[in-house]
Order: sequence, then structure tokens, then C-alpha cells
Amino acid sequence: HGLLGEVWDDEMSSNMLGSRLRKVVQNYQAMNKYGVEVSGPGGVSSRPKLSRPELLCQLKDKVEVATLTPDLQPFSSLPWAAQLPLKPLTSDLGPYKSCAVVSSAGSLRYSGLGKEIDSHDAVLRFNAAPTAGYEKDVGSKTTIRLINSQVMASDEHRFLSSSLYSSGVLVAWDPAPFSADLTQWYNRTDYPIFVQYQRYRRLHPLQPFYILHPRFEWQVWQRIQDNMAEPIQKNPPSSGFLGTVLMMSLCEVVHVYEFLPSRRKTELCHYYQRFYDAACTLGAYHPLLYEKNLVKRMNQGSDRDIYTNGRVTLPGFSKLNC
Ligand code: C5P
Repeated sequence: HGLLGEVWDDEMSSNMLGSRLRKVVQNYQAMNKYGVEVSGPGGVSSRPKLSRPELLCQLKDKVEVATLTPDLQPFSSLPWAAQLPLKPLTSDLGPYKSCAVVSSAGSLRYSGLGKEIDSHDAVLRFNAAPTAGYEKDVGSKTTIRLINSQVMASDEHRFLSSSLYSSGVLVAWDPAPFSADLTQWYNRTDYPIFVQYQRYRRLHPLQPFYILHPRFEWQVWQRIQDNMAEPIQKNPPSSGFLGTVLMMSLCEVVHVYEFLPSRRKTELCHYYQRFYDAACTLGAYHPLLYEKNLVKRMNQGSDRDIYTNGRVTLPGFSKLNC
């Protein structure tokens, strides 16, 4: 280390948080809104710490980036199923050579990373993150935008009318109960993802728009929990980590920006809003702290890349020899 400042420690634990945030995280660790059933050997303290290649292969082998198609129940018997893409996302998009995942972190502000981000073949952005006015720091290319159902449903985000959502391919997700099948989820979504999806498709019929299979988010959750030494929040992973895994299935190499905070680390929540909360970077509802531990352990790049550029480098699944 020496001259290099501190970068993310891959054994971050909720005990290392400030007391306010620690209590919030511990509350979520005890709560189980989605009925998560923790399986496997359970002996949290005795699990072996996997090496980087082992972690990457486990992620590739145990997670499938699936999206909804019109042939799946209950959609096959619903008239609007024709609005869903015929084929899954992974057969329509990519493969891309080099990709960028742009977290929405406040530390992107004044980063000057825009040119580098735009130089990738595909760029993933999240939720309501804009490019207009922030091009110097975050670039202007948007290939895919991953949005959660809360953004789709809230009045403040103007999902149906804002031009923010009209470029690139849209991919949406909603937290489903842990063991629910698609019919149970359809009847009990967290936010009205399907109502908003149908409305959006009617207004923008030509823009590709996928919905993630809820199995995906819980498969990713399981990879995080199985590799942590303590119980993580029993809530789905953040959009940032879901999007990172999604891009690992489409790209030969994935660069994730400011997910692990650089020397610019700040309590500013998003680069595009004047709102400050450490929970945005460290997690409260989402097991974000543990997602970052896992990403740090999978990173192929250097600590200096993290420190100066907030950049992590991950291999695409197609480039792994498992
Ligand atoms: O807040 P939002 O979910 O739209 O941000 C996109 C993603 O960027 C988050 O899901 C999280 O993974 C990441 N993020 C972060 N630190 C922040 C803000 C966002 O790691 N301060």
C-alpha cells in the first residue's frame, strides 16, 4: 500500500459500519420479507474461502441469466404475452468484446471517465441515471439500461414519459418471493412491474424490453451468501451487481466503474443528485457490502485501478475455462 490509499477490503462486515447503518443492516439481516430459505451445510464459519477462478466458475455454473418469454406459464395464457420478446436476452444480445458497467455512485462525479466508458462496445446503466449534462464523467453511450420495478412504478421517475429511458435496450426486474413460481410472483409482485411493462410497450413498441426471470436474482443472492462468513440481508442483490453478472454473460471482458469506490469515495449517493447517505455505497436493504466483497475477490485488475479509476475488471463467462 504505502502511497496508495485504502481500497475496498474484501472481508468487510456489518460490524465495521457506523452504529446507525450497522443497526439498519442488522435489522434487514434478521427480517425475511421474501421467505428466503438458507440451504446447504450452513456452517458459516467453516466454509472454505474460494480462489478467484473458483468463485468465477461457481458464478458461471450456478447462475443463469434468464428472461421471461411468452411460452412460460402463466404468460402463455395471457393475451399481453405477445408483448414479451420471443427469445431470451442472451440469444438476442452480444456477444460483445469489451463492456462497461456504470454504477450510479456519487464518486463518478469529477471522474473524467466518460471517454473511457464510451470506448467500450456496450455500456450498461441503471435506473434513472442520466448521461445528459454528465458526459465528461459517465459518457453518453447507453446499450442496456437495467431498471427496478420501483422506478417503473413511481410518479417521480416519469417512467412512461421521460426520454431518459428511450435509448438502448431495457431490462426490468422485481423482487419475487424466494421460492415462488412465476404464477405466484405474477400475483404478488413487489411493485406493479407487469402493468407498467404493458403500458410502456404500448407507448414504445419498437424498443426492446426484457424482464429478468426472478430465479436469476436469487441464484445470484445464493452465490453471495455461500461465500460470506456471516448471514447477509435476505433481500435481492442490488441492480449494480445483477447488472454486472448480466454483462459477464454477454461480454468477453467487463469493466465496472465506481462499484468499489475510488479515491473519490464520497457519501454523495448518486452522481446526478444532491443527496448524501452512506447506505447508498455500503447497503441497507440490499446485501451491497457483501456484493462488493465478492467483486473485490473476483477482480482481475489492480488495486491502483480501483484507487485511481474506480475500475474493476472481470472476465466474461465465455472466457473462463472451468
Ligand atoms: O441507486 P441505484 O440502484 O439506481 O444505483 C445503481 C447501482 O449502483 C446500485 O444498485 C449499486 O449497486 C451501485 N451504487 C453504488 N454506490 C452508490 C450508488 C450506487 O455502489 N453510492
